[in-house]
Amino acid sequence: MARREMSFVCQSCGAAYGRWQGKCEACGEWNTITEETSTPAQGTPRGKRRKGRLFALEPLPGATDTPSRLPSSVAEFDRVTGGGFVRGSVLLLGGDPGIGKSTLLLQVAGALARKQHAVVFISGEEAVAQIRMRADRLGLADAPVRLAAETSVEDIVSTLGEGPAPRLVIIDSVQTMWTEAVDAAPGTVTQVRASAQTLIRFAKSSGAAVILVGHVTKDGQIAGPRVVEHMVDAVLSFEGEGSHQFRILRGLKNRFGPTDEIGVFEMTGGGLREIANPSELFLSERDLGSPGTAVFAGIEGSRPVLVEMQALVAPTSFGMPRRAVNGWDANRLSMLLAVLEAHCGLNLSGHDVYLNVASGLRIQEPAADLAAAAALLSSFGNAPLPADAVYFGEISLSGTVRPVTQSSARLREAERLGFSRAVVPDGPGIDPASNPGLSIESFGRLNKFVEKMFAGEKLIARRVRRMEPERSAPARSET
Ligand code: TYD
Ligand code: MG
Repeated sequence: MARREMSFVCQSCGAAYGRWQGKCEACGEWNTITEETSTPAQGTPRGKRRKGRLFALEPLPGATDTPSRLPSSVAEFDRVTGGGFVRGSVLLLGGDPGIGKSTLLLQVAGALARKQHAVVFISGEEAVAQIRMRADRLGLADAPVRLAAETSVEDIVSTLGEGPAPRLVIIDSVQTMWTEAVDAAPGTVTQVRASAQTLIRFAKSSGAAVILVGHVTKDGQIAGPRVVEHMVDAVLSFEGEGSHQFRILRGLKNRFGPTDEIGVFEMTGGGLREIANPSELFLSERDLGSPGTAVFAGIEGSRPVLVEMQALVAPTSFGMPRRAVNGWDANRLSMLLAVLEAHCGLNLSGHDVYLNVASGLRIQEPAADLAAAAALLSSFGNAPLPADAVYFGEISLSGTVRPVTQSSARLREAERLGFSRAVVPDGPGIDPASNPGLSIESFGRLNKFVEKMFAGEKLIARRVRRMEPERSAPARSET
């Protein structure tokens, strides 16, 4: 008797069950399990073993040249992929609907096709005429990209297998693809996984680079099973805030390059424009002279990026103080508030705290701690920080300000953009002589920074409640 495959599959994580149930035990999602009939692998009947075929093993050194890369000539895209498309590699591009995935890939396709590379763009979502219209708008009408609206993976692989393999194949959304190999509805996990597998096999055998577009779920994961992320060589995510024109391309996984680089784009009427100098753009909307903002000198990959951190500290009107963070880690904010309370005598338990990274950038570096602290203190004390200062430094649980990597690159960028002061951690890596245009102030402990910041500020002196018992009596009665 044929073995019955487990046929109830969670559409969120890909876990398989023998019968239906309301909640997926693997990922905890409700109502994500649907029935999928999957036919077992065709070919060898069970019990009858095929004798293995012999294949040649290749030596590691000197046998092949380094994987040849094809730069896309969209520099911000290449920065994230690590210098271009590797032959036979498969790249998964995820992002919210409408963020600009199709636009970005059409621009990449157009740029490559103009350099006489064979590029195929296959859309399962739009008709050929629609893609043409978009290409027109992007000024790519003359680029010899070959287009198709197709969803059958077998047809796609057969068509592409005719003649010489294209250099790049773009599949606009792997969720729309379906393969006859499995008997599940298009868009289900089983279909997505099987289609991706077939396309990956095509890439490896033909040497064409394949880009798969993937939809993301509402919590930001690439829809379909995580196994697709494991199968591909690189996973990129295209992000942006709805209200901002900036789009950020980020590498989440990359077998051939770094994952910490970001590519910055701006969505314009004529498509995506590359932003080679993100700091200038991120700082272009600065709100000078108002309390609660501090400029963080950050690093994204190999590139310094200056960005404004904005904080608002306001008395709570309800019992529970609110903490809301945008663009930064909420746990990091809780930690920072705890350190400010434990080591600097700053009690914010009666205040709502809001923290926002301007321009929709998401910061992951711990080096932003000091800038966040400066913004919080500035808002709390209602005292604007100097507009020409940048901040960076990691804050530890013990209240020390710890050195961070690439300090000199951060300082150089700050100086280049006309800043004249930097507030930095004590310790190695910072050489005031190398940045003659910057006056550098360094701190080893956060409480020293708090004291220095508010020395002479009468307002804050009253609001910062010292931890010493004799002075802790009247709290915030003046506000
Ligand atoms: P699209 O690439 O279709 O997004 P995705 O493939 O990620 O779903 O981008 C659609 C959005 O981009 C749409 O809301 C309009 C905007 N857009 C522009 O602002 N300018 C343009 O030139 C193009 C082509 C799109
Ligand atoms: Mg699209």
